[in-house]
Amino acid sequence: MKRNVIVGQSGGPTAAINSSLAGVYRTAIDRGAKKVYGMLHGIQGLLNEKYLDLSEHIKTELDVELLKRTPAAFLGSCRYKLPSFHEDIGTYERIFSILDKLDIEAFIYIGGNDSMDTIKKLSDYAVLTGHTTKFIGCPKTIDNDLTLTDHTPGFGSAAKYIGTSMKEIIRDSFCLEYPRGLVTIVEVMGRNAGWLTGSTVLSKGEDCEGPDLIYLPEITFDIQNFKERIEKLLKEKTSVVVAVSEGIRTADGRYVCELGNDINFVDAFGHKQLSGTAAYLAKFIAAELGCKTRAIELSTLQRAGSHLASRIDILEAFQVGGAAAKAADEGDSGQMVVLQRFSDDPYQSGTAVRDVHKIANDEKCVPRNWITKDGTYVTQEFITYVDPLVQGDVAPIMVSGIPRHLYTPKELYRK
Ligand code: F6P
Repeated sequence: MKRNVIVGQSGGPTAAINSSLAGVYRTAIDRGAKKVYGMLHGIQGLLNEKYLDLSEHIKTELDVELLKRTPAAFLGSCRYKLPSFHEDIGTYERIFSILDKLDIEAFIYIGGNDSMDTIKKLSDYAVLTGHTTKFIGCPKTIDNDLTLTDHTPGFGSAAKYIGTSMKEIIRDSFCLEYPRGLVTIVEVMGRNAGWLTGSTVLSKGEDCEGPDLIYLPEITFDIQNFKERIEKLLKEKTSVVVAVSEGIRTADGRYVCELGNDINFVDAFGHKQLSGTAAYLAKFIAAELGCKTRAIELSTLQRAGSHLASRIDILEAFQVGGAAAKAADEGDSGQMVVLQRFSDDPYQSGTAVRDVHKIANDEKCVPRNWITKDGTYVTQEFITYVDPLVQGDVAPIMVSGIPRHLYTPKELYRK
């Protein structure tokens, strides 16, 4: 690399997104980049010329290690939908004039399917105008819903956290006996893809039965059938634990969470805020069956739990960051780095690049044959797929008994 690199983080944060940032930084510097800039709050911040020089924040090897162990987007994130250049050429002129001013050779964006839309549009514009900056996408999302990649960095750590939390919840749920039983409903993120909710199955083993039922968004949710199943289970056991995706919908297409709340927040990509599924179902079951219920929304914890990060995930996240910088240096543009799985056991994977046009805005869901016929659990194929991704630990660097993180740049939160 002869000139400068700029990197941004976009979409929902994860426990591994900063490891990708560290990977981009390290490889770009190793390959000769003069400076590596970080956009503050992604492309939205860049449009306001908000960026920093990463070398002022990553000064030592220890900083790199801390960054790899720091959850959430170190540079801040955004959910910003870039207009098409037919709609708003001015935005493109502005972005490219900033890139020219910073002498940017490679623009790397770490994000999910919506963020890949930004890489697609910017790389198309560069081709059209003969601009030499290379645009590369670096995959990230706990939802694991990007196509053409075996899995996405961030997913493994979230799955490990979810499997572990589920096991702890199940253990706790058997302690106290209630006259009519206890029903615990655990709500998991993932929007329209059930990868994370299915990962609650990882709690199952010699020492734990696992959840009793798992409801993925890929399957239409039938509330009466749900009640009947719980009623039957309560005749057999004192405690029933159910995993539900935040994105389950009834036959009329409505999200279950919409039945119980009036949250109307919609992001720039038209995604509704999904929250309250477990709360709604817990109330419904309590009213119908008269038992004690508890709703647990794993919420932010499942994507920020870096103290339980998967070693495979953190390593692969670092690797895809490096592969993105390398791809740009080798002249690729309009591509996203993908992870390819060569074998499950022993687990082996590698990176490649794929056309971002085939990835942006698409969603990869759990295949129907990885969900049981009755739609209330996942199959062994699902477990075989997820299992390698949660292996190994990354010990937090503890200071005074609490994990130490790389300090958030002050530019991020100062107005
Ligand atoms: O990044 C994807 C995701 O984690 C989804 O699973 C979830 O629905 C969404 O982010 C929540 O985002 P926010 O923090 O913006 O509410």
